Amino acid sequence: MSLLSSINIENLPKHLAIIMDGNGRWAKQQGMMRAFGHENGTKSVKTTVENCAKIGIENLTLYAFSTENWNRPKLEVNTLMKLLISSLKKELETLVINNIKLNTIGNLEKLPKSAQKELLEVIGKTKNNTRMTLTLALSYGSREEIINAVKNIATKVKNNIISIDSIDESILNKHLYTHNLPDVDLVIRTSGEHRISNFLLWQIAYAEFYFIDVLWPDFSEEHLYEAIISYQKRERRFGKTSEQIK
Ligand code: IPE
Ligand code: IPE
Ligand code: MG
Repeated sequence: MSLLSSINIENLPKHLAIIMDGNGRWAKQQGMMRAFGHENGTKSVKTTVENCAKIGIENLTLYAFSTENWNRPKLEVNTLMKLLISSLKKELETLVINNIKLNTIGNLEKLPKSAQKELLEVIGKTKNNTRMTLTLALSYGSREEIINAVKNIATKVKNNIISIDSIDESILNKHLYTHNLPDVDLVIRTSGEHRISNFLLWQIAYAEFYFIDVLWPDFSEEHLYEAIISYQKRERRFGKTSEQIK
């Protein structure tokens, strides 16, 4: 495949984050219920996870369910939770074969007990895997994450565990759900929407963005490689001048 051979494996994003959007519109286009779109979205999840591991991405984070998504109709929320449980059961083997470690971010306590149990099981069975960390953002909201971090830091200050003066970026980082992950290098959002929807606000401070007008169930291996090739053509200056980078 020619696109794959255009990827420079020396310059991969260390952390790729994807906002998987457009399942509902995909289903509607075919005159089907939204659930049909979500089911087909899981196929894109599987191929994307496998292809990211194949090319050597070390950290992949997928936005699967936001804090705001709890406001969707109950039936749709139930469908998504059932799909999460069945996908975890079905794909444990894929994670094991590919040496992928499962991780989660978000307020898992809000998930149904059966989903929590399945997640803990897959996390446990993949905890020693080393090729790639797959993080699922579930019941995740970036503002909630930051508020939790601030509360935990404030408690430590109150109890004289840390001083106010010692609070810096690294301390805040350590109190986020993503404390074990590097900053995001590349964010991909499908479906043509150009927004962040409360995803990893702190962690994307210097991320590159790639918006693609393809609905998530249609997101293919080629689309993934195109996004990475686009990322590799960019100059990341981090505030410096172009001359300083070269
Ligand atoms: C993304 O697809 C999946 C979730 C947010 C859970 P959507 O369900 O948002 O699909 P659209 O945006 O309505 O097409
Ligand atoms: C963002 O998609 C959340 C996920 C992909 C899980 P939404 O479809 O919920 O985003 P908005 O509400 O259109 O911004
Ligand atoms: Mg959407």
